[in-house]
Amino acid sequence: MVVHSVEAVQLLDRVVLSFQVAPQKTVLPSFSWVPTPAAVRASIRTLPGSVFRIGRGMVQLGSRALFPQLQARAYCNHAAVSPASTRVMRAVTGVLAEYAQHGLDAIFPFFEQRESLKDDLRTLLGVEGPIAITASTNRGLSDAALSLPWQPGDRVLLFEGEFPANVTPWVQAAKAFGAEVTFLSLDATLPELLEEARRELAKGKVRVLAVSAVQFQTGRRMPIDQLADLCHQHGALIAVDAIQAVGVVPFSGAKLDLIAGGAHKWLMGMEGVGYLWARPGLELVPRVSGWLSHAEPVDFLMEGAGKLRYDKPIRSEIDFLEIGSTNVAGCVALQAAIAPILELGVPAIFEHVQAWHDRVEPALVERGFTSLRRGPGERSGTLTVSHPDAMELGIQLNEAGVACTTPDGVLRLAPHWPNALDEVDVLTAALS
Ligand SMILES: Cc1ncc(COP(=O)(O)O)c(C=O)c1O
Repeated sequence: MVVHSVEAVQLLDRVVLSFQVAPQKTVLPSFSWVPTPAAVRASIRTLPGSVFRIGRGMVQLGSRALFPQLQARAYCNHAAVSPASTRVMRAVTGVLAEYAQHGLDAIFPFFEQRESLKDDLRTLLGVEGPIAITASTNRGLSDAALSLPWQPGDRVLLFEGEFPANVTPWVQAAKAFGAEVTFLSLDATLPELLEEARRELAKGKVRVLAVSAVQFQTGRRMPIDQLADLCHQHGALIAVDAIQAVGVVPFSGAKLDLIAGGAHKWLMGMEGVGYLWARPGLELVPRVSGWLSHAEPVDFLMEGAGKLRYDKPIRSEIDFLEIGSTNVAGCVALQAAIAPILELGVPAIFEHVQAWHDRVEPALVERGFTSLRRGPGERSGTLTVSHPDAMELGIQLNEAGVACTTPDGVLRLAPHWPNALDEVDVLTAALS
């Protein structure tokens, strides 16, 4: 069934959701700087359940039931931008309806929604402690890079071939603070890669090693735990760009110092929202800050005269980087998109995606592609193959309904939980 309008999607959802009506929530903000004086407390409304309610039906590995409008026959661009599910569409229209009806009063319940989103993100990242909601992966990495306590003579280790989001911020910070940048090679076996990192770390003065959990082009899963151990043995920090991993690859940030990511790839939310986590207690210098970075930043708006001051301390944990107003619709969209991922479980999603790769890889190799897939420990959601005519073949596949990309001239296929295993037939038909 193809559903063409938002109204129709909402109607469909209402039918589905009538089986799982969640109780309405009375929302009282709970975290440190949220306004809670009596007058505000009295005005906090009850959000209609529909904004938070996320249906449990229709979420099955290999099923596109939540994506009735998706046009591609095989959508393999989750490493780029994911399509919006009916849940995401409804969540966003729900937010807009709240603002349409209540204006300013709409904002308060969404403080709690943001806290609940952060709980979900902590679960997916395998971490505890404060998280900042950011505008993008790159915004988070740039702010993190500017916030480190740089010292003269510091060094930075980066990888040649990384997506620029995890290179440019460090190169610019290195320029600003007089640090030296060294690039490590990605064109190496796992032991070679670890040995090169160890050698560079042993030279000393490395402030930070920055790496993606999964490489955007090849889908290579990086040994972030081993790199973290090496970094810590040599007094360096490790900063991980997790956008190509979280949501599809089992992930634990337990050994990491900084993690940044975004909503619109494997978490299946929308562009314009990201997250930044720092190990609790990590020393940060608030070079980037704004009105919401202070302790109790909004009391001057709520608590009468004499509260407007500029000398209140900047909070010390990473959420001081939430410097101004937040992308409310994007946060609600992200939580709606994450719900199926948490329900299915990332390990099960990973297995499903590997089964998809297992079917597609030999079919592509048979047609002359070279697979860049690595051994089991270095796999991810992305299957990349090379071919002298990769660009033309990429166009051919897209025209035949296989949505895929060719970053830097290789063919990248990035299926997620809704992709069916029999999509291999669409691919082989498209290439014959
Ligand atoms: C590894 C990696 N990091 C970051 C980005 C960009 O993320 P954002 O636009 O959220 O900064 C991409 C996008 O392709 C990416 O592959």
